[in-house]
Amino acid sequence: MNNNILRLKKNEIIRNMCVDTNFLQDQLIQPIFISQKVKDSNEIPGLQDNYVMSLDRAKKQIEKDLKSKCKNYLLFLVPEKKSQGNFNLDFHFSAIKSLKDSFSNDIFLWADVCLCSLTDHGHCCLYNNNNEINLDQTLLELSNMALAYVNAGIDGVSPSDMMDGRTKAIRNILDKNNHNFVPIMSYSTKFASNFYGPFRHAAESAPKFGNRKQYQLDYRNKNDALRASLRCANEGADLLMVKPGLYSLDLIDDIKKQTNMMVGAYQVSGEYSGLTLAAEKDLLNFNEALKESWYVMKRAGAQFIITYGARKAKELELFA
Ligand code: PBG
Repeated sequence: MNNNILRLKKNEIIRNMCVDTNFLQDQLIQPIFISQKVKDSNEIPGLQDNYVMSLDRAKKQIEKDLKSKCKNYLLFLVPEKKSQGNFNLDFHFSAIKSLKDSFSNDIFLWADVCLCSLTDHGHCCLYNNNNEINLDQTLLELSNMALAYVNAGIDGVSPSDMMDGRTKAIRNILDKNNHNFVPIMSYSTKFASNFYGPFRHAAESAPKFGNRKQYQLDYRNKNDALRASLRCANEGADLLMVKPGLYSLDLIDDIKKQTNMMVGAYQVSGEYSGLTLAAEKDLLNFNEALKESWYVMKRAGAQFIITYGARKAKELELFA
């Protein structure tokens, strides 16, 4: 075997010639937060260039993003009122409809399907009286939510709650209503992670009691991490995902091999804010570090990347 690594590093041309990891801008998905309560926009602490916005402001942001060819979005909606069930989805419906009326097929709009920004306790599920997860009721609310999104014109739905059966319940209700072509991008391997902090602040979705360990995965357990993605694959997901992305790189290949499906990675808020804060202290170059993090996820086999920096891709000059 040839042990010489240096010979192919002489200059940028030959280095580029030897690159074996590449990707397209449409493989980056930009999260976007719209709140019923926010008048204009509030920057999200730690997430450089990301805001919780009013609907109008979000449209202006998308117009701006489109100039940089950022077209693929994951939408998080934050309603004004929290309750215990029978959720009112008027705000969700009108926001999605308005976005799709404005941008039509210039954007691909995924929406996160979860109850945590709707419930008064901030959990992703409903509970019954003895504080057990009320799975039937939760699945009903989740599938109603997905249907409302699709009726409003969403392009794809993305369940993040981690309940058994949610992907199947959502697929069923969509198919029954003749929405056979709306894809489901499941948060299939999602850990109970410490790295969701900045997001929960933005989406007002921090649990008021306890934590999410009753339904999100234990990061000490690889078996369950794989089984959870198999669960979503078997239930009819179209795309799978690991989350937090950078802390789950070891799982991507195994999931792909076991399912023959595409597996994306969500570079979550805590991972992204680490770069932001280090750069603010001049400890690293933000854009270069961001670029590296994306290539590493692609190298590990991620098909797509959900990242708070997607709108910066052009600035990073990744795509000529
Ligand atoms: C909702 C949801 C969360 C994230 C995406 N969807 C928070 C959570 O599960 O607590 C986290 C995203 C991020 O941190 O960037 N369930």
